[in-house]
Amino acid sequence: MKQRAVKILGTGAFVPPRVVTNLDLEKMVETSDDWITTRTGIKERRIASPDETTSVLALAAAREALAKASVPPEDLDLIVVATVTPDMLFPATACLLQKELHARNAACFDLEAGCTGFVYALSVVEKYLVAGGGDTALVVGAETLSKILNWNDRATCVLFGDGAGAVVLGIDEKPGILATILGSDGQGSHLLDLPAGGSRMPASPETLAQNLHFIHMAGNEVFKFAVRVIVDASLRVLEKAHCTMEEVNLFIPHQANIRIIHSAAKRLGLSMDRIFVNVNRYGNTSSASIPLALHEAVVQQRIRSGDLVLLVGFGAGLTWGSALIRW
Ligand code: UT7
Repeated sequence: MKQRAVKILGTGAFVPPRVVTNLDLEKMVETSDDWITTRTGIKERRIASPDETTSVLALAAAREALAKASVPPEDLDLIVVATVTPDMLFPATACLLQKELHARNAACFDLEAGCTGFVYALSVVEKYLVAGGGDTALVVGAETLSKILNWNDRATCVLFGDGAGAVVLGIDEKPGILATILGSDGQGSHLLDLPAGGSRMPASPETLAQNLHFIHMAGNEVFKFAVRVIVDASLRVLEKAHCTMEEVNLFIPHQANIRIIHSAAKRLGLSMDRIFVNVNRYGNTSSASIPLALHEAVVQQRIRSGDLVLLVGFGAGLTWGSALIRW
């Protein structure tokens, strides 16, 4: 019997046209281009307009991925949108995307795993397809984090940005996705969260007055966690696929902070020329960061057929995940 494996057929991405630089932020909060650049590596980010919701960004990225894959929307069996900024609490943003794509044969749901959302979705959908749940799927990571940022809080508003990335997955005999690793630690759930608007703290004048509908983060704690799990998740997925770090052509980590990437690179013995970085241009776009970077790497021909690509994510939950892909 032939092996049923999953491969990436096409990638796409979209970012809102509006660029907000560190100099722009200097006019809004007590910060400086120097602080943001040295502490994070970020120089600018994209910020959505009121009309650019998460599903709008997702749609543009999805259309490009489908076109690159030459897959018509009606061939999709499954659409998963990884996001922490859905258009609404329900229905799923994936259903809103389905409507615009006219992908009438697809089952649709959202997946929320913080900044690891895309890697989680990739892993879950790969297993769904291998098990025979369908033959073709669309996985999107899309965020409009600007809409849940407190623009008076310099500790968070300088870090995040908006964007979307998408991949179309299909069945092949030779595996593209070689292995994935997922993990979580709910003990760290309080380190990065958006406290109000759910069943624990429904929206009220008090929650609004206390800024509880915005991102809250214990930056230092998350930083230490990130460096630890990037290294661990990278080594574990390589071991699972019987590959070594030397064989990896391109390492695409979640783009949160250049210092986290440098630390992980040092511990993994990776030179920067094998690491894809675009955090300087987009900031941290959460679930969108890895598919956006993956798409740019493909467009820039940093990834070629036969290359080994390692994706690693980490974020709210706490969650982490890695995927090893033969291109
Ligand atoms: O994607 C989800 C995962 N999230 C992450 O990976 C984020 C992980 N954390 C980080 O990237 C870093 O912890 C931050 C970039 C958030 C912060 O960097 P840090 O080196 O850990 O700085 P800090 O929080 O220890 O703050 C140092 C100082 C503080 O002042 P004092 O108390 O030393 O006087 C802050 O008040 O920097 C101050 N500060 C700022 N100053 C200018 C904080 N934000 C700013 C700012 N501009 N925007």
